[in-house]
Amino acid sequence: MYSEKVMDHFMHPHNVGEIKDADGVGTVGNPICGDVMTIYIRVEDDIITDIKFKTFGCGAAIAVASMVSEMARGKNIEEAMEITNTAVVTNLDGLPPQKLHCSNLGADALHRAIKDYLEKKKEKK
Ligand code: FES
Repeated sequence: MYSEKVMDHFMHPHNVGEIKDADGVGTVGNPICGDVMTIYIRVEDDIITDIKFKTFGCGAAIAVASMVSEMARGKNIEEAMEITNTAVVTNLDGLPPQKLHCSNLGADALHRAIKDYLEKKKEKK
């Protein structure tokens, strides 16, 4: 019931961990299951040069976070803001309907991390 891509990202997730002194940090909770995801980004000249995640979510959430981290790395922050939860699911070749809510954590946590980066940048000026 899970695609090969979901299984691959679940078994071998990319970019797991934390970035110390990250330029942006975004945490979101899933209102449906109560699970939580945090994304850390390193940004240079408005390009996401490094990204890591931690989640208390399920296997689908791990696959989602792994995929979103791959999609965001190397993008500028405007492009990364356009990554949607639906695009992440499409890149994973879909999720079972009962696990679709798990995809809500990925892009939302990324967008929150970018907003955090932008706020910190504003404060520095
Ligand atoms: Fe909570 Fe999947 S069941 S993120």
